[in-house]
Amino acid sequence: MSTLRNTKAAEATDASHTAALHTAALDDAAAFKERIAAELDEGRRRSLTYTDIDDDLLVRQHSALMSPLVWDLAHVGNYEELWVLRELAGADPTRPEIDTIYDAFAHPRKDRPNLPLLGPAEARTYIAGVRGRVLDVLEGLGEADLRGADPLRAGGFVFGLVLQHEHQHDETMLATLQLSGRPGLVRDGDLPPGRPGGAEEVFVPAGRFRAGAGADPWAYDNERPAHDADLPAFWIDRHPVTAGAYAAFVEDGGYAEPRWWSPRGWRWRAEQGVTAPLFWWREGHTWWRTRFGRAEPVPADEPVQHVSWYEADAYARWAGKRLPTEAEWEKACGWDPAAGRARAYPWGDAAPGPAHANLGHRASRPAPVGAFPAGASCYGAEQMIGDVWEWTGSWFLPYPGFRGFPYREYSEVFFGRAHRVLRGGSWATHPRAARASFRNWDLPNRRQIFAGFRCARPAPKEEA
Ligand SMILES: [Fe+2]
Repeated sequence: MSTLRNTKAAEATDASHTAALHTAALDDAAAFKERIAAELDEGRRRSLTYTDIDDDLLVRQHSALMSPLVWDLAHVGNYEELWVLRELAGADPTRPEIDTIYDAFAHPRKDRPNLPLLGPAEARTYIAGVRGRVLDVLEGLGEADLRGADPLRAGGFVFGLVLQHEHQHDETMLATLQLSGRPGLVRDGDLPPGRPGGAEEVFVPAGRFRAGAGADPWAYDNERPAHDADLPAFWIDRHPVTAGAYAAFVEDGGYAEPRWWSPRGWRWRAEQGVTAPLFWWREGHTWWRTRFGRAEPVPADEPVQHVSWYEADAYARWAGKRLPTEAEWEKACGWDPAAGRARAYPWGDAAPGPAHANLGHRASRPAPVGAFPAGASCYGAEQMIGDVWEWTGSWFLPYPGFRGFPYREYSEVFFGRAHRVLRGGSWATHPRAARASFRNWDLPNRRQIFAGFRCARPAPKEEA
């Protein structure tokens, strides 16, 4: 029995372990591998929790936008098999006949319920078997592998790949559970109170900053290479736009005024008959929403979520602003002008703790604005990490000098003028998959993701 299998998963929930992971690699390969195993275990427990529901709900498709949950479950194991067992360790396929079923590029989500999917029990057995062999491979890695030149082994990259992949699917599963409309499937929790008042916008002076991933060996290809960018001065909202502020846009007739919308956004709004964020409705003077199967009044001080890029863009125009570019967003989030260096997070390089950000499904909602003063960036912007993914004005494009790794389908095939970049992670994002340089992307009409936004505006000449 692998010793790594006995690692207490609880260790991985201590965020300081995440911070220590990469420094541990340099001194103690055994401790490094123990931590990876603990993190893999923690991610798996989360996947199993979200799929610990009736088989009927697992195999059903709750929305054409999403896979049946049982597909996600077996897919994370299949991805792990492909990358760790076959690509890294050179093993033969355990079940070659299922590979195309779980290839995300072979079948669009809408078609997945019609595939001969593994059933819930079979899927759990399959992924547990793969995981056992993955831990054996991990245990067999030596310090020379971790420090060596092979890009899949160096710094344990391939384990970071499959771990972050599982975390991202866990967030996708939560979006599916929200779309299911069923109560009682997703736990809620407590969050710190908000802080009313304070400046609405923060100022970011003109100048160069360093964009993209620094030393983090688990950063994705699309975060590289790090590069300098020179930006004019701008203002950016201190907090994400609240549901209350968004409701004012709705009540001001924002959805009936083409002048606030891009031509495509207006067409989308009209075709879809959209009149408010997804899951919202109005009764009398009160906005209500459905959140994981329960109806509740929309909290005015919470960041708005479940809005498309089109809606975010229209709101920003109505407010006399625009969405930040992703470079502006990243500078406001992670740049430390005094030190002249980029931080991993707004507050520094320490892994996210409970006072910094609302990440990792502490509760099943964003925290009220002002809840995380300790998570502020050097420029005073708050809640940039966690709560809601933030739409930016940027298309998902490669950084200068981009090189696809370890496979084209991770990022490269999505580059172009179809997807918009989202930054920062949501309440559902695992801390391991959230950082200042992390780039997410989606189509501008998507609303099932836990996405909101904040606005920015160029600084007038006399301020710049
Ligand atoms: Fe995937």
